[in-house]
Amino acid sequence: MCGIVGFVGKHQAAPILLDGLARLEYRGYDSAGLAIRNGEEPAEVVKSKGRLKILAEKTDNGNSLVGNCGIGHTRWATHGEPSKTNAHPHVSGNCTGSGSGEVESEVVGVHNGIIENFKELKEKLLKHGYAFYSQTDTEVVVKLVDYYYKKYNTDPADAIAKTMVRVRGSYALCMMFKSHPGEIWVARKDSPMIIGVSNGETFVASDVPAILKYTRNVYYIGNMEIARLTPGEVTFFNLDGDVIEKKLTEIKWDAKSAEKGGFEHFMMKEIHEQPKAVSDTIASVVKDGRIELENIGLDEEAIKNISHIYIVACGSAYHTGVVTQYVIEDLAKIPVRVELASEFRYRKPLLDKNGLVIVVSQSGETADTLAALRLAKEKGIKTLAIVNVVGSSIAREADNVFYTLAGPEIAVATTKAYSTQLIAGYLLAIQFALVRGQIDEEKYSLLITELGTIPKKIEKILEDKERIQWFVAKQANAQDVFFIGRGIDYAVCLEGSLKMKEISYVHSEAYAAGELKHGTISLIEDGTLVIGVLTQGELYEKTVSNMVEVKSRGAYLMGLTSYGHYEIEDTANFTVYIPKTDEHFSASLSVIPLQLMGYYLSVSRGLDVDKPRNLAKSVTVE
Ligand code: M6R
Repeated sequence: MCGIVGFVGKHQAAPILLDGLARLEYRGYDSAGLAIRNGEEPAEVVKSKGRLKILAEKTDNGNSLVGNCGIGHTRWATHGEPSKTNAHPHVSGNCTGSGSGEVESEVVGVHNGIIENFKELKEKLLKHGYAFYSQTDTEVVVKLVDYYYKKYNTDPADAIAKTMVRVRGSYALCMMFKSHPGEIWVARKDSPMIIGVSNGETFVASDVPAILKYTRNVYYIGNMEIARLTPGEVTFFNLDGDVIEKKLTEIKWDAKSAEKGGFEHFMMKEIHEQPKAVSDTIASVVKDGRIELENIGLDEEAIKNISHIYIVACGSAYHTGVVTQYVIEDLAKIPVRVELASEFRYRKPLLDKNGLVIVVSQSGETADTLAALRLAKEKGIKTLAIVNVVGSSIAREADNVFYTLAGPEIAVATTKAYSTQLIAGYLLAIQFALVRGQIDEEKYSLLITELGTIPKKIEKILEDKERIQWFVAKQANAQDVFFIGRGIDYAVCLEGSLKMKEISYVHSEAYAAGELKHGTISLIEDGTLVIGVLTQGELYEKTVSNMVEVKSRGAYLMGLTSYGHYEIEDTANFTVYIPKTDEHFSASLSVIPLQLMGYYLSVSRGLDVDKPRNLAKSVTVE
């Protein structure tokens, strides 16, 4: 979604804002804009359609905009087409494009989120003489703040509070008032925003990477809260205008972790960070060979009392849920249901009161997942969040949090967060299995030891990545690709197919191998690439049969299996082998070649790997 950055301090604001926005470009990038204030002077607003570099060129990398206080925005259009007019910041005056509207405006603001009742509010403002120059909901909010500010001759906190009571939807709002120089005002409901301070300077951003270079000391602004930012200081208010005290939190992420570190793309860097991310996540709960879950509300009694598990998530996080379902049901014998958050939230689910709802999210801000979490809480069901971003909305609202230690993930296509979510699922499954008497101590130790070997095995697969690159180069013109497998292999196919679609724009489908005959097989033509994933011993022969079926209809076959299954070469045209592991954990290895395939296909087609079209990293609106 959109990215917001704000700064007030000693340095020139615009270069800092552009730098922060560049680190948020993965959130949305059809247009961008800045509003900068130089002392008492009114805000100077500069906007452009397209990538951030256009705005950077227009402003000489921000150097042409003088002033130490400003707000910036990268837009991912929701209301109104991508255009310079619809780009943020928006102003409360009549923006003529000549700059006079900005000069007259009391309020200038940027926004992330969606204002659901913007039409009704626009009608109201039209009646009060306001004119609108854009099609955005943001312009409506900015003008509403201006309306209350002037009508009640009040202060910014009160005008913003009155606006928050009137608007429905989600928002992270960042504004400057002409009559309050050197101040930035922010407000938040259901959209991410953090505030950082360092050395007499204050920063605000939609996400941590934007400010990590400058500070790791942050405040989390809560839902329905307002804050005033001045150099090095932040004051928080509730809707009644009362001051709220907040604690400063230190973010542990290293600034370097949000840089490309010599790789051409963040995605490739993040693929290579998987061994460490996996090993850190294991080490966070495994102490002296035992899994410790007490800190996340899962002591023995709580584990024994779980009647059902409901895993709810979106996209790749949902795919890890599908893997986890197989593993928990097989090891711990607890019934598990996996649901897409966008479906779960509206389908009036019947949940057992002794159930456990596990929501999975890298960002911790995905709107549907957050709504699903709230629904589970409303129903009085215990909730656990598997989340990567510390202090995110989901992390704050869940009863307990299992943090994955993937570090900042910048590429839109998830890789290392996916891998750590799998690990979290395995760890829960193993501990649940022991506590519920489904495995003995010996098996418990074996599984934990095997888990510890996963990082090295991922490294081994990565050592041979050029072989996959070579194969993919020959497939650069593929039109349709099918991924087939059974059980956990099917779950991995879902992820392999998504990786291919989202960054290579190649149509692909994941199919449970046994389902092919029920319709999809009619799509197979001469040369159609079909990738069979076969890591589950009991299902191996069955998937081979399905591969033979498609081969006889012209498919070109790739097999992905463990070392030792060399007879696959009698069937497949090309084979990728992964190290052997306990079959419950095979997804952690088989996904790596599929991530690499998506990556190399995207590169070979000359696409923007890290920022695929139409997609945003965190989907903070419905
Ligand atoms: O931040 P979340 O894990 O909640 O995001 C969920 C999905 O939007 C995400 O996994 C998406 O599918 C990825 N782009 C896939 O690579």
